[in-house]
Amino acid sequence: MNPLPHDQVIPILDFGSQYVQLIARRVREAGVFSILVRPDISVDELKAMNPKGLILSGGPSSVYEENAPQCDPNLFSLGVPVLGICYGMQAASTVLGAQVRGASSREYGRAQLNILDNSDLLKGIPEHTAVWMSHGDQVDTLHEDFIALAKTPTCPFAAVKHKSQPFYGVQFHPEVTHTPHGIELLSNFLFQICKCDATWKMSDFVDTAIARVREQVGNSRVICGLSGGVDSSVVAALLAKAIGKQLTCIFVDNGVLRKNERDMVENMFRDHFDIDLRVIDAEKEFLDDLAGVEEPQTKRTRIGHRFIDIFKEASADIEDAKFLAQGTLYPDVIESGHGHSGQAANIKLHHNVGGLPEQLGFELIEPLRDLFKDEVRKLGEVLGLPEQMVWRHPFPGPGLAVRVLGEVTKEKLDLLRDADEILLEEIVSNNLYRRTAQVFAVLLPIKAVGVMGDGRTYESVVAIRAVESQDFMTADWARIPYDVLATISNRIINEIRGINRVVYDISSKPPATIEWE
Ligand code: XMP
Repeated sequence: MNPLPHDQVIPILDFGSQYVQLIARRVREAGVFSILVRPDISVDELKAMNPKGLILSGGPSSVYEENAPQCDPNLFSLGVPVLGICYGMQAASTVLGAQVRGASSREYGRAQLNILDNSDLLKGIPEHTAVWMSHGDQVDTLHEDFIALAKTPTCPFAAVKHKSQPFYGVQFHPEVTHTPHGIELLSNFLFQICKCDATWKMSDFVDTAIARVREQVGNSRVICGLSGGVDSSVVAALLAKAIGKQLTCIFVDNGVLRKNERDMVENMFRDHFDIDLRVIDAEKEFLDDLAGVEEPQTKRTRIGHRFIDIFKEASADIEDAKFLAQGTLYPDVIESGHGHSGQAANIKLHHNVGGLPEQLGFELIEPLRDLFKDEVRKLGEVLGLPEQMVWRHPFPGPGLAVRVLGEVTKEKLDLLRDADEILLEEIVSNNLYRRTAQVFAVLLPIKAVGVMGDGRTYESVVAIRAVESQDFMTADWARIPYDVLATISNRIINEIRGINRVVYDISSKPPATIEWE
């Protein structure tokens, strides 16, 4: 079996650029399958993939630094076109005899590109156009075997090609939106130079991912922890299709879920997908652990530990279980410093990667490891998951425990769940769900005075948080129309006994965070 999802593949050698995921995505958006590989992958390994071309990504190193990542010096013996971007251009040009040195002026940000030769890579791109630069080094002296295709005021070889080898290099980033004609450049490389066809679709990914899972699993049983979120749901749907009854899903009801969350998961996976779903009711254990705890990080740790214990116990009952499936995405891999290059800065240790499988002694299955969030959503659609599941907002592992500020009790959770349900109903019915990244209610640890009828009330306050965000690292508060906010506030105060005031959170991240705790 071909180990790759498609017969036309563009491997991307990952030298650690923060943009490498974007390159992969742009290539796939153009209809060609791409896969990220280690920068020092051997020519033999590449040959086994039968690539149509190669892309060498940028990276934070300097080629003349000690231990700078290098590509196989025989890369060009493959005979397929190579596109080097930034560091990738420098790494490949060095192999071909060019010299690289620190640029006299470092270039970061927008630059004006002047095209000198638009016969292939730069075909159809205006003579003067903006490009996005982010580099300290540049190819300095070009061997006579290279031709300059474009320059910027400070970079004489902003785009080059080799006279006899199928090598192209660009000193700028065609994959970012700040390079307005970058997609045309990548398309020229894929279709004119590598002669790819735009035939790759997400449904191809499904077919090959299924074949890969079947091969890996054989007759063993696979356990999948369902959280109700997009990633684990897509993994479960994919595995159900691949191995049917060999799959057991475990869903832990930790008592800090949203209203109807458990029913929704049961309906979808047990009834619709006919999966062997074990729902563990652990509300009491989790709430006992949380009793008297006010500090947010303590809440998180207690919930995390209890989850591992319960999951361990539940999985011990499942015979022949050898594998644990996880919805790890490519950004999780790279953020945890487990990327292909090991070069990208270790930004944060993601809760999805590591921990659980080692403790349980399972082998891991991560069918979404090469995908980005929006691709996972597309995959979910192809697998037949309903729209409301595919487009779900993220929900934190510690759930409502970090949205009931201060001590968590069942009464407070129920109050919050009711307010949160009304909030979401209004956001969905006003077509605001897809326009926001996360919307939720927070129960504040204070009481406020109000007046209802003739009586004075002294009840709880709910804050509404609605944000827009691309990556959840930064976020802005969503400009929800006043009349929608008015309806939400009226409904919450009138329909729920115990809440007499609603406030709207207008803080951006940073300096605030999305969650309150
Ligand atoms: P903050 O509050 O840091 O949140 O701006 C960024 C994103 O991460 C989610 N979040 C969590 N997810 N476990 C999770 O699985 C957690 O402990 C956790 N804390 C925050 C948050 O909902 C937002 O999407």
